[in-house]
Amino acid sequence: MTQSLTIRRPDDWHLHLRDGAMLAAVLPETARHFGRAIVMPNLVPPVVTGDDAAAYRTRIMAALPAGMTFEPLMTLYMTEDTDAEDVRRAAASGLVTAVKLYPAGATTNSASGVRDFDKVRGVLDVMAEIGLPLCVHGEVTDAEIDIFDREAVFIDRVLDPIRRATPGLKVVMEHITTAQAAQYVQAGDDSLAATITVQHLMLDRNDMLVGGMRPHYYCLPILKRRDHREALVKLATSGFSRTFLGTDSAPHPTHKKEAECCAAGAFTAPIALSCIAEVFEAHGALNRFEAFVSLNGPAFYGLPVSDDTLTLTKGDPLDLPTKITAGPDTVTVFDPGRPLHWSVA
Ligand code: DOR
Ligand code: ZN
Repeated sequence: MTQSLTIRRPDDWHLHLRDGAMLAAVLPETARHFGRAIVMPNLVPPVVTGDDAAAYRTRIMAALPAGMTFEPLMTLYMTEDTDAEDVRRAAASGLVTAVKLYPAGATTNSASGVRDFDKVRGVLDVMAEIGLPLCVHGEVTDAEIDIFDREAVFIDRVLDPIRRATPGLKVVMEHITTAQAAQYVQAGDDSLAATITVQHLMLDRNDMLVGGMRPHYYCLPILKRRDHREALVKLATSGFSRTFLGTDSAPHPTHKKEAECCAAGAFTAPIALSCIAEVFEAHGALNRFEAFVSLNGPAFYGLPVSDDTLTLTKGDPLDLPTKITAGPDTVTVFDPGRPLHWSVA
């Protein structure tokens, strides 16, 4: 039986680091394990321009504790006013790795996102030309579409038309949650990839809703029914090369999660790798764990695989952290509701 796993140092292809005291609190939790992360731009106000991204990158590096190594891969928040030439410059200088598309109103801090996708045609064309990936929050926001259907409808109504109209555009379907998304990414060509979170591989909506509502499991896109989770696990553990870990670790103060109107997001960073190893082991796929967390992402983004390694060892059930402190607040760490046995050495 495998008791120790040494892999190339993993990356997180979708991460929320926030700013200020929250950034200082959560950054070490990621940098402890992950070499790089795609950093989400949904701050208030959002990271829209190259100058915004440069300033945010400086704040991230200033918050990194001495002795830790970590490379933030910056993204720009696409608005209907995004300047294609600014995107071109920010990409050419190496400052940004991707542009993020939030449909307006889809999730936390998405009010400045895109309502009319025709308005971003010019930017998408430039991105296709220069090979800059588009990271997509794939949910429609129409009030008449049920929250559990919003991802599948987005694929048909928005994503597929965008991809047909912009041949060659590299697209990452972020935090996919449905069998339809798993099917769509597999049917796509080499320009299409998908990230999957920890919680969507471990939980379904019953875990969130049966026997009482668990706010720390509430995230967007929302957890779906069990057969969707099973489709995601099958995809992740299959060795399919165009899917990789994007934790979407999204810290909120505990009081905003345990509230009448609960903020969306699960703070998974501290235990993400332990969780993923547990899932892969349960499905007899530990030999494909490294591809999912360390190899497939760099291959899609055209970046080198890490030269560093990381070792996980298997032992008694871990004592899981419950909360971290962020300025005046705490942030509750994701609890997968089952024992974890793999720890990072
Ligand atoms: O659950 C989520 N939280 N989903 C998102 O898309 C955004 C994120 C956040 O920023 O808190
Ligand atoms: Zn996110």
